[in-house]
Amino acid sequence: MGTEAATPPGPAGPGLDQTTLGRRVVAMHAQLRELGPRVARIAIAVHDEATGVLRTFVDSTDGGSPLTCYERPLAQVPSLLAVAGSRRPRLIDDLDVLAASDSEHATALRRAGYRSSYTVPLFGGEHLLGFVFLDSTEPGGFDTALRERIGVYAELLATLIAHDRASIHTLRGAVRTALRFSRLRDEETGEHVMRVGHYARLIARGLPPARRPDDEFIEYLFDFAPLHDLGKIGIPDHVLLKPGRLDAAEQALMRTHVSVGAGLIDTMVREFGLDTVHHVSMLRNVILYHHENHDGSGYPHGLSGEGIPLEARITKVADTFDALTTVRPYKPAWGLDEAQAFLREQAGRLFDPDCVAALLASPAQVAAIRERFREQPETPESPQGAGAGTA
Ligand code: C2E
Ligand code: SIN
Ligand code: SIN
Ligand code: FE
Ligand code: FE
Repeated sequence: MGTEAATPPGPAGPGLDQTTLGRRVVAMHAQLRELGPRVARIAIAVHDEATGVLRTFVDSTDGGSPLTCYERPLAQVPSLLAVAGSRRPRLIDDLDVLAASDSEHATALRRAGYRSSYTVPLFGGEHLLGFVFLDSTEPGGFDTALRERIGVYAELLATLIAHDRASIHTLRGAVRTALRFSRLRDEETGEHVMRVGHYARLIARGLPPARRPDDEFIEYLFDFAPLHDLGKIGIPDHVLLKPGRLDAAEQALMRTHVSVGAGLIDTMVREFGLDTVHHVSMLRNVILYHHENHDGSGYPHGLSGEGIPLEARITKVADTFDALTTVRPYKPAWGLDEAQAFLREQAGRLFDPDCVAALLASPAQVAAIRERFREQPETPESPQGAGAGTA
């Protein structure tokens, strides 16, 4: 394997296709709006099977209000659980009938002036992908013809969501397989990488509102941040596992892990035909740019500030914080205070100050992540099962 940085900079637009599904859902809204004047409100919810969370995009035909988005665990919405269980659309010809039942949502709709509703569950095989909700201001607003047309859109939407899921799943699987078959130290595959994912999500959520990425971005980052050091599988053991400081030549070799990793992603995308996968650029950016510094002094390209993709800036803070606070072959673990002081001191130099502030603002959550993914001394075989293998 070549050791020279063979990968061109590539398109580094911060979070290039970060909200692809969200954008497609918006486009779908526009089409659903054509369905008829009686459909006054349209909402689409996407279901994340791993977390059980429903993310709902709500649009309104008449209000012209911007698309709003909220999240709710499906388990807390009994009426929708029932719809999912039946696998059939639910028609409510008069919401008044439901107002007394368990659906707090139906009550809210009724209060907002809606009289009838039609809810279509979206399935991909056995998997619940989401729901489409349509509401009308007239009782009996959904006749058979309209329901049929809605059904066609629902199928389309399900296909879209399923495709998005499948391709991201394939990509993640390919990367995980590469990691599993590599002979990396435990800390590259076990608890460390889990913590980095959690820290990255914590940071992303804590960014100032104007800079906070949307939920879709954050969930992908949660999946991808742990894979930032994929390229270390191309670094020889005598360098990777060296107990002491690296000399100049070793350091130069070590630094190629970012371009080696990006090259591996490019190969996978080519070989597995994953070029249609959304967010693959996010994964690539995380891998290639997680050692760039805010002030331009990092590697491999010396990018600075906003020129560094946000996903990489976030991952850098998460990764460094974790590297400092845990043992490495070449260093002991630093104390929490020391590590936090380092982040604070390097905000604006090595790190994006907003990312540092976001991490420092949540010490209780940092402690909880450390507690949950504590390093076990000598795990013979890191537990593969729980969570990770739900595929
Ligand atoms: P890593 O051990 O996971 O460290 C990730 C990053 O955390 C480092 O990126 C660095 O930015 C930060 N970091 C870790 N330990 C310290 C520290 O004691 N002081 C400071 N100021 N920062 C620290 P960097 O430097 O680009 O290194 C990338 C990777 O190269 C490291 O990942 C590690 O695998 C390897 N590496 C770096 N320096 C040495 C070394 O002296 N000896 C050995 N054996 N490996 C090293
Ligand atoms: C919605 O957000 O429109 C749905 C909820 C429900 O039917 O309870
Ligand atoms: C690691 O955190 O295990 C590796 C760090 C790096 O190279 O960023
Ligand atoms: Fe790295
Ligand atoms: Fe790391």
